[in-house]
Amino acid sequence: MDKDIQKILVSEEELDTIVRRVAAQIDQDYAKREGGRLILLGILKGSVVFMGDLMKRIRTPVEIEFMRVSSYGSGTVSSGDIRIILDVSIKEIQNCDILIVEDIIDSGRTLSYLVDYFKLKGARSVRTVTLLDKPARREVEFTPDYVGKQIPDEFVVGYGLDYDEKYRALPYVGVLDPKAYQGNS
Ligand code: PRP
Repeated sequence: MDKDIQKILVSEEELDTIVRRVAAQIDQDYAKREGGRLILLGILKGSVVFMGDLMKRIRTPVEIEFMRVSSYGSGTVSSGDIRIILDVSIKEIQNCDILIVEDIIDSGRTLSYLVDYFKLKGARSVRTVTLLDKPARREVEFTPDYVGKQIPDEFVVGYGLDYDEKYRALPYVGVLDPKAYQGNS
């Protein structure tokens, strides 16, 4: 275990089980639709490891796209303060089924914004999948379609999630030791 990790919250084995379960749910649901293109749309950077594992387990033919957004953060800012840093072009998503792939939901602002954004851009359907969900942190009402695991309000890193761009490559999700960020935040 990395020296800065206090405890492992989701082990490699559990992550594998989660990915297989979520992929099976997605396959089952999308088998019911009539034709069309299914696009897995990963939100950079945190989703990249989950996205890579998930796409290998989904049997339904998929295409992939990526977006990067940044949030104007903090609870003092009103809803919808999302800035798009890397977008997808309209022709890539019009009349497609979009499944937005996230690593974690906190306030719910990012996904709440993006679901509306893709509907307005002409997607045929928009659903969301997140590896981790922290319901205790919600500031806007938002319920993802697929959830890997609900977790308590702890500072987690690994499997794509970072602190100050570090720890993304850890193969598990762990709780960061407060000593690793004390005095820095
Ligand atoms: C994280 C995460 C989501 C968002 C969730 O991204 O990947 O995109 O925050 O938060 P919300 O529910 O409060 O909107 P972050 O801004 O840390 O960027 P990163 O994925 O590049 O690490």
